[in-house]
Amino acid sequence: MIVLNSGDSRQPTIRYPFPQGFWWGSATSAPQIEGAAHLDGKGKNIWDHWYEQEPNRFYGGVGPTDASQFYFRYEEDIELMKEIGHNSFRFSISWSRLFPNGYGEINQKAVDFYNKVIDKLIETGIEPFVNLYHFDMPLALQEKGGWENRFVVDCYEQYSAACFRLFGDRVSKWFTHNEPIVPVEGGYLYNFHYPNECNFTKAVQVAFHTMLSSARAIKTYREMKLDGKIGIILNLTPSYPRSSHPADLEAARIADAFFNRSFLDPSVKGTFPSDLVEILRAEGQLPVMQEGDLRVIAENTIDLLGINYYQPRRVKARESLPNPHAPLLPEHYFDYYEMPGRKMNPYRGWEIYEKGIYDLLINVKENYGNIECFISENGIGVENEARFQDENGIIQDDYRIEFVREHLKWVHRAIQEGVNVKGYHMWTFMDNWSWINAYKNRYGFIAVDIANNWKRTVKKSGWWFKKLAENNGF
Ligand code: BG6
Repeated sequence: MIVLNSGDSRQPTIRYPFPQGFWWGSATSAPQIEGAAHLDGKGKNIWDHWYEQEPNRFYGGVGPTDASQFYFRYEEDIELMKEIGHNSFRFSISWSRLFPNGYGEINQKAVDFYNKVIDKLIETGIEPFVNLYHFDMPLALQEKGGWENRFVVDCYEQYSAACFRLFGDRVSKWFTHNEPIVPVEGGYLYNFHYPNECNFTKAVQVAFHTMLSSARAIKTYREMKLDGKIGIILNLTPSYPRSSHPADLEAARIADAFFNRSFLDPSVKGTFPSDLVEILRAEGQLPVMQEGDLRVIAENTIDLLGINYYQPRRVKARESLPNPHAPLLPEHYFDYYEMPGRKMNPYRGWEIYEKGIYDLLINVKENYGNIECFISENGIGVENEARFQDENGIIQDDYRIEFVREHLKWVHRAIQEGVNVKGYHMWTFMDNWSWINAYKNRYGFIAVDIANNWKRTVKKSGWWFKKLAENNGF
């Protein structure tokens, strides 16, 4: 353990110093913060549409127009980021704001908005990390089948090329997708995203087209010879077996294939995991592809891996045979397992297992060529967080500080063991609109008081993060 102490008693003792230039910041997405869902020429995306159809599916009946108003307040918000120590910030571009129909004509007002955001970030000393797709399919393209339809892959390639051309002179960290498995799960398996299907065949096709779109965007980026890096952001959930019984180990391996290696392997290695391919073949569920697709994926792997980590996945061998008439799901192959005594986030119902972040990083080092990576999301959601306000209206979120600190200790250890991890981004900067959970679980360093004209107030954790970033450690 390195302990830095300058001998000056005013200087804090830094027990966990991070490498120089470490990226400190946070992440969010366009639909979750912008608001202005129907303004300045933006086209509808699936969230705008689904909310119109079924507002009851959204917590408190709150929809995407009520995202945190960054569209109007980006200057003040970026100043606040600086105030709490950010040197980098990840946001996404709204595809349907830039291309209201998903392809074809560009909306100049969107170009103006993203130019202003990028310029303001740079002027403020915050590096923009830009993601192209965060769950927000333009409605016009969903009406053509969304990611089920190969035409949408072509449209995405056109959209990505436009973004690189318009903003690539100033943005040098690009991401093709955020958590690409989530729209597969939500939209095609478990009914928490539009189009609310439960159809394994479509899920596999959607996953394959998403992966292909990522490789094609990477190819486009490289052909443009821009001076930057391009990657993908994956939510990785280490799969822990209940025991070392071979059947439990097998269950964990299959869960890992479905939920981690499905996107991690093609993104980093350019190949799909053979055990997953075998399962899909045996089920008669291989996706439709065209000649050359696998070559594009093989030749266009990422430069930089973003890892989102919230919780582990604990599994055990199935205890009963699956209903042969039920729709096929990955859970056909394993059961979930609640480990006795596991530590829980009592405010969100997710397990907290800090060492999971280290296990993921070591896996990247040992099995994925120690590719350059960073923690692109980590965070703790809290229901009813206003109850933790003190008499000055500041949320005393000591649980969030502890959460970050305990995860960072493991990230620090991974760095000491040689993992090529370059930064830590928190989910998220300010409380934001979170899909069907709307504002149920608050994650921000900054509280947003919706009823009080969207007032922003830095939480205790925001001030703590400022010190952390300034000291480059704690
Ligand atoms: C992350 C997503 O996995 O979880 C975010 O990338 C999302 O978009 C976040 O908002 C929190 O989810 P929830 O359901 O707890 O609000």
